[in-house]
Amino acid sequence: MSKIKKAIIPAAGLGTRFFPATKTIPKEMLPIVDKPTILYVIEEAMQAGIEDIVLIQGRGKTAIEDFFDVSYELEDKLVKDGKEEILESIRRVRSSVNIISIRQKAALGLGHAVYCSKPVVGDEAFAVMLGDEITFAKNESENIMSFLGKQSCDTGASAVWVLPVEPKNTHKYGIVDVGPDNKDLSKGKKVLSVIEKPSSDKAPSNWALPGRYVFNSEIFKYLENTKPGKNGEIQLSDAMCELARQSEMMAYSFSARRYDAGDKLGFLIANIDIALEHPELSQDLLNYLRAKIK
Ligand code: UTP
Repeated sequence: MSKIKKAIIPAAGLGTRFFPATKTIPKEMLPIVDKPTILYVIEEAMQAGIEDIVLIQGRGKTAIEDFFDVSYELEDKLVKDGKEEILESIRRVRSSVNIISIRQKAALGLGHAVYCSKPVVGDEAFAVMLGDEITFAKNESENIMSFLGKQSCDTGASAVWVLPVEPKNTHKYGIVDVGPDNKDLSKGKKVLSVIEKPSSDKAPSNWALPGRYVFNSEIFKYLENTKPGKNGEIQLSDAMCELARQSEMMAYSFSARRYDAGDKLGFLIANIDIALEHPELSQDLLNYLRAKIK
């Protein structure tokens, strides 16, 4: 099987945890230091060799599309002022990947958002990367998306990333059941079922799905038949559960730095960590934090 070329980035959620900031802008456009969250996600996809980025966008939220458009006046001024390097990250995206935009007309759930990409995905295996989660590889040569893409191409099965979470946090994630032998998932384990946000006493394991997946196009068949589930939303986890039961889906643990920027605390931690690595900010921020906790 050939490599994964397309990544779907759902960014059409209501972002209620960040209201009122997200009333008119998607939470994926909120800045982490000086770049919108979604730019980190796209850079991660580019690092994995993805060629086509399919953005799922919500009604009335065109900020993401606009962000990648050329703004002649602004760009011309930056060039004239000798500040062209500010544009570098956006230009790199424009020249390296195709950005395709699809509208999810109503926020009916993550499963529905992924289903909206069906017309452009066709029969190929494809990646799904949640637009409010960011990850950084520990090893420069392989990030989680290149790892999952390679596993899926080698085995022909869908491949998903799992992270261990504490029992008190299982209710925040989709949790996989991989059977009783569930200590080490570094070489992958077949998923038997998936449960959306179970309480700790109902969770089949402590392996959570943090938002990086490679699916075979078969997932669309199950998404098409998925009825609204938890919170009245069409849940990706419910379709994944069917895919796991009727076909093959493997779960892999993989060591990476990850931030849940869709959550207020996760967003603040991402800002602090990334600012602490920023050459112009790190020392002053560190001094400020040290003085604050004295
Ligand atoms: P979340 O559940 O974290 O997003 O979905 P949300 O619903 O916007 O968040 P809150 O709880 O109201 O604050 C995970 C990802 O899936 C996208 C979101 O934009 C986010 O990146 N999503 C979710 C969609 O694209 N469409 C949907 O209908 C739901």
